Amino acid sequence: MSSSSPDERTLVLIKPDAVGRGLVGEILSRFERKGLRIDAMASRTMDGDFADQHYAEHVDKAFYPPLKGFMTSGPLVALVLSGDQVIEVVRGMIGSTDGRRAAAGTIRGDFSLSNRENLVHASDSTDSSKREVALWFPELG
Ligand code: PPS
Repeated sequence: MSSSSPDERTLVLIKPDAVGRGLVGEILSRFERKGLRIDAMASRTMDGDFADQHYAEHVDKAFYPPLKGFMTSGPLVALVLSGDQVIEVVRGMIGSTDGRRAAAGTIRGDFSLSNRENLVHASDSTDSSKREVALWFPELG
């Protein structure tokens, strides 16, 4: 059945551990083979202020300092993906936060043993995707 609603967008970060381990192609390939569109892509290195904006909901949590240190440690690849129900689809593809518990067949389940160095970030709701896409790619409106 076709849907008349416009395709969603989501903000994905291929994190510094994935870049360092040479997994960018593997991860991009999974999204492409799924049929998702890449609307924007850029290699960036976050500074601390930008990390605080991106992770605004987590800045007061105990795990935030090590998360911030990791996410600002080197280049990452930022993507905007679009497609039908892309937010839920991509969250399913990346798997649960902790790579040790993520299901086999997901990106984290196949390649991560950590809840910090877990390879990929993806927006978790419509509100967060709008905020994160606007933060990373303001030119997309
Ligand atoms: S929460 O509180 O349930 O919303 O948190 P969660 O969605 O599980 O995780 C949010 C992001 O924090 C990262 N994280 C950590 N980083 C460092 N150390 C520890 N212990 C830790 N636990 C969670 C996790 O990888 C999530 O990063 P993103 O970039 O959002 O995927």
